[in-house]
Amino acid sequence: MIRSLCNISGGDYIDNFTFYSPTCFVFGKDTESQCGSLIRRFGGSKVLVHYGGGSVVRSGLLDRVKKSLEEEEIPYFLLGGVKPNPRSGLVYEGISLCRKEGIDFILAVGGGSVIDSSKAIAAGTVYDGDFWDFYSGKRIEKALPVGTILTISAAGSEGSPDSVITLEDGMLKRGASGDAIRPKFSILNPALTQTLPPHQTAAGITDIMAHLYERYLTNTKEVEVTDRLIEALLLTMIHEGPRVIANPDNYEARANIMWAGMMAHNNSCGVGRSQDWNSHNIEHELSALYDCAHGAGLAVTMPAVFSYVMEHDVMRFAQAAVRVWGCQMDFAHPEVTAKAGIEALRNFLISIGMPRNFEELGAREEDIPELVHMLCRSGGRDGSISGFVTLDEKDCEKIYRLMV
Ligand code: NZQ
Ligand code: ZN
Repeated sequence: MIRSLCNISGGDYIDNFTFYSPTCFVFGKDTESQCGSLIRRFGGSKVLVHYGGGSVVRSGLLDRVKKSLEEEEIPYFLLGGVKPNPRSGLVYEGISLCRKEGIDFILAVGGGSVIDSSKAIAAGTVYDGDFWDFYSGKRIEKALPVGTILTISAAGSEGSPDSVITLEDGMLKRGASGDAIRPKFSILNPALTQTLPPHQTAAGITDIMAHLYERYLTNTKEVEVTDRLIEALLLTMIHEGPRVIANPDNYEARANIMWAGMMAHNNSCGVGRSQDWNSHNIEHELSALYDCAHGAGLAVTMPAVFSYVMEHDVMRFAQAAVRVWGCQMDFAHPEVTAKAGIEALRNFLISIGMPRNFEELGAREEDIPELVHMLCRSGGRDGSISGFVTLDEKDCEKIYRLMV
């Protein structure tokens, strides 16, 4: 068995950390019927029910949510229409509604986009300035409480302190963070994900794997516990992904994916170690410009970024190749093993129906200068992005060209 292939040289060892993850997770069949009582338990008395483009109406979930609120005699307002890659316009609308009606709790019913829009409204409602300040670097310290009913395993927003919104003026896609926006509760019923189209299921699987890889790519040494947790979750996705693509009604596979998706991004496997996030930053410009699914963008982005930065720590990539993808270790040529692991990831993502290049994603080579500009120069960035490796504009351009 290969043990600790990487971490063999000196460097920074495990960082001090505080891990605060107060979300109450309620997992399993029919658990959405508890949303009314959970809102009461967490102090809500007037609720904004926020949802997306209609899947929760068609599935009957929204009616079940209303019933649960009515049983608890909790007044509520509905605000639907959140688009994937959620926009600032609806956030402003939600903030006005919450202030006007004295709403004190936000219930997100949907995927990462609905949850992120809810978090933005929650923070913006109790803030005197423009909510976009939080997406320009200001940390969120205060927010209305948010609860979620998750309908897609993907973004991990149900357990994360993060929110990603696109500013319609310039289509800038940026993130904000703060423990104040971690959900008070998240209802995870795997059966709710059975109505997902295959492309969305696969995009979700890809996003979960990206959250794991972004943490795996670290410059911190001696992080065996979190390495092993990440590897276990990646192995779970490799096992369950094809099962759920073959049989969308497979409740058990959906259940394992749902919990893995939460664990991948509530940072329990990312504590004490530096993390990457360059693939996410590079991808966000793709989903901002082409409105593609975030996970589909990541399927094209990750292999390109990993190939580009592999030499920075070949042994880390080789370790993933051996432990996660079952590749044979070539001690004389570890770069061969490292590359084989990246290829295995690429082939896995293609096998579940994800795009392999710009063309399949719907992106255009001629837009690369604009993508690089948006990534490196707009929205307050100074010309480079940092993570596992610091990448300047030229690096980012080369990475986008690897995706063509
Ligand atoms: O809008 P509806 O009609 O509900 O349809 C949605 C949407 O079209 C559909 N869908 C969701 N659940 C369904 C369903 N269709 C049928 N049955 C169901 N059960 O799926 C589509 C995608 O939904 P979306 O919420 O956009 O997906 P996802 O959860 O992947 O969220 C993506 C957003 O999250 C951000 C991404 O950048 C992107 O904007 N992220 C948020 C993070 C966070 N807050 O921590 C971290 C992530 O890295 C990510 O960046
Ligand atoms: Zn993501």
